[in-house]
Amino acid sequence: MIPPNAWHSIGYSKEFGVGQLVSVRLLGRSIVVYRTGEGELVGIEDRCSHRFAPLSRGRCEGSSIRCMYHGLLFDRDGQCIEIPGQRSIPPRARLRTYPIAEQGGWVFAWGADDVAADHSSLPDFLSLDDKDFVFGTGKIDYEAAAEQVNANLLDFTHAAYVHPSSFGSSEESWGQARCSIKSVENGLSIHWWVPQSLSYDTPGVQMDAYVDNYLTYDYTVPGHLSMWARSYPAGTAQRLDFGAPDIQPLVTEYSGQSVCATGDRTSRYFYVWGVASSLPDAQGVIADRLAMASRAFEEDRIMIEAQQRVIDETPGDIPMIPNAADKAITLFERLMMKTSHQRQAGRKADVTKAAAIL
Ligand code: FES
Ligand SMILES: [Fe+2]
Repeated sequence: MIPPNAWHSIGYSKEFGVGQLVSVRLLGRSIVVYRTGEGELVGIEDRCSHRFAPLSRGRCEGSSIRCMYHGLLFDRDGQCIEIPGQRSIPPRARLRTYPIAEQGGWVFAWGADDVAADHSSLPDFLSLDDKDFVFGTGKIDYEAAAEQVNANLLDFTHAAYVHPSSFGSSEESWGQARCSIKSVENGLSIHWWVPQSLSYDTPGVQMDAYVDNYLTYDYTVPGHLSMWARSYPAGTAQRLDFGAPDIQPLVTEYSGQSVCATGDRTSRYFYVWGVASSLPDAQGVIADRLAMASRAFEEDRIMIEAQQRVIDETPGDIPMIPNAADKAITLFERLMMKTSHQRQAGRKADVTKAAAIL
């Protein structure tokens, strides 16, 4: 279940130039998003009120948008303000708008029109403007529901089987891995010790072939992952009895990832990787990391889309049988359900209030 009353990732700031019309999909609907001359982002349903031509094939005029089929002009609130050759404008010629938020180089749309946008629930990604890091960004479209992509990111044990050739993950190292899960505001905080992992080539850093990796990430509704990956000399996890390390890591890297439910059975996955800008040839390092991550996420796509096809042909009365590694998935599904129910409860309260007034 994907709650609409949440901030859904729709792109990176750099993709929205002034006056450029970008059509994105969210929860089965198309939204046209554009940046006004003042630099603000506007989101309006991508459907002209006249004969339903997509506004994304239109023209931005200051903070308004003109449909380029018969020329209707809509302001940033979705209200039609001009019909060529006609003086009166029906008030019903009004389109749904979407609250759009921009933070740290990411762009989000609030998916519910019956619950006010809550800016306190924006994900806490490391800003892409952070000068201590250089970043690479990417995205992949899936022919699979966002729920399956969320589940993939909430259970990293799949790395041993899906990513041995890209991330170099092995069954031996993941067989020794230990995970802890805590609740945080709007999500889960997940910590993994993964001993004896193959180290990545990092110029200027002396590392052995194997390191112990400590991965810590918050996973928040409706599918935002903000992760720090720190590498330590092999043996550190054992020495600390798998406790949280308070020593300097050999390498610290960052990844922000986000799953957007574009439809019931389609999703878009955004991923950012960051390495320290102080590394020699940091740009070369990030290019390598991004190429590796893109290969790995393509491996995920192939598996998840195949899984989705099996889910679709499986009768609804056959349940999935969870195992211990599914704990985070189960907890997160409950959180998503709770968020959806909060919306339904709010709508019920509104109906009751309206009835009381009548
Ligand atoms: S469909 Fe947009 S103006 Fe006619
Ligand atoms: Fe994966």
